[in-house]
Amino acid sequence: MPTHAKLDTAAEKRLARQATSDAVRKTAPKLHTVIKYPDPVLAKKGELVTEFTPELAQFVDEMFDSMYAAQGIGLAAPQISVSKQITVIDISFNERPEEKIVLINPEVIARKGKQFEEEGCLSIPEIFEKVQRDSWVKVRAQNVRGEFFEVEGEELLARALLHEIDHLHGILFIDRLSRLKRELVIHRIRKLQKNGEW
Ligand code: NI
Repeated sequence: MPTHAKLDTAAEKRLARQATSDAVRKTAPKLHTVIKYPDPVLAKKGELVTEFTPELAQFVDEMFDSMYAAQGIGLAAPQISVSKQITVIDISFNERPEEKIVLINPEVIARKGKQFEEEGCLSIPEIFEKVQRDSWVKVRAQNVRGEFFEVEGEELLARALLHEIDHLHGILFIDRLSRLKRELVIHRIRKLQKNGEW
């Protein structure tokens, strides 16, 4: 039955992610704590990066480790309380190293089409809502050495690029929901906070 097969794959994927996360937790030299909504840093625009030092490259490695440990496919520096224009993405979740993306001072330079798919965020755990996004984007950014490059993405990668670049501008995915949906989500979060589950 197709549904059953799909469930198996999802369960296997969850287990694989858990294993990767556990391994990274054991070996990573430094892990950063991911802050949660409504921490004010998440609503601030990150500063542009102007110095491309070995410390920056090391920080980016720590971001990847922190992202895998938290079982995310994207992490923006403001989510670990560093208000700078740095984000890392790996939609393969450490399966294919060539898919690791580091974006410093990124800018969306072209966009096409529309998609409406579910998103979540490490800073808004357990909440998943459909968000309208461009279905294809082209992004210009700098790498850890300060060199400019371009990256294109569609579907999930386009969503990840846009979601993470939003973080660098103080925008969360819940800010992209309808007013009513957003209020419902915030109400749910307040309830969780009240019960000490946030
Ligand atoms: Ni996020």
